[in-house]
Amino acid sequence: MKFFVDTAEIDEIKDLADSGLLDGVTTNPSLIAKSGRDFKEVILEICKIVDGPVSAEVASTDYETMQKEADNIAGWAENIAVKVPLTEAGLKVCKNLSDNGTMVNVTLCFSTGQAILAAKAGAAFISPFVGRLDDISQDGLQLISDIVRIYDNYPDFHTEVLVASIRNPMHIIDSAKMGAHVMTAPPKVIKQLYKHPLTESGLAAFVKDWAETGQSIL
Ligand code: E4P
Repeated sequence: MKFFVDTAEIDEIKDLADSGLLDGVTTNPSLIAKSGRDFKEVILEICKIVDGPVSAEVASTDYETMQKEADNIAGWAENIAVKVPLTEAGLKVCKNLSDNGTMVNVTLCFSTGQAILAAKAGAAFISPFVGRLDDISQDGLQLISDIVRIYDNYPDFHTEVLVASIRNPMHIIDSAKMGAHVMTAPPKVIKQLYKHPLTESGLAAFVKDWAETGQSIL
């Protein structure tokens, strides 16, 4: 499973990139607004830190303007994945960009029907939002399982399932069990994966027992 981080904060991205476990980055207009930084400037900085796909999202909703924004963003760096919303205009732009070899991440997916359309439009990634579905008492993870199963039926679909709107480690683990290709999560949730109380208590005991031996490895 590829690990993307869902943030536009440079320090958080650098920290995770240093772990060697980071495969890409996703941003959205809300995350850019939260960063308080210039959109292009922050995306270019991220693209230099991470070799893998960096998702940068269009802001317009009409086809003509969205296409112009997408063409502009696509030229910013080699590893850009242009992010478009799952709308008719978004999928038209997706098809145009994909036909020209640009990676597209289709975002705001909440149904299997939408996921089929994105695959047919040649999306590199489909982003189903599990947390936002859970928030309205629908089963976000069931959507992941259904999309993975549908895509598996069609070898000519090359779209990767990018699990988005992740709120906790179980969203990641359950998606991995289902065979989702990629997940994107806030740094805090990724860090939670390291944690287990038995790891912490076990390590404390090893450190204490080792100190009692009076030895040094170096
Ligand atoms: C994905 O690309 C989105 O940026 C993100 O996962 C949305 O998550 P949220 O529902 O926590 O805002």
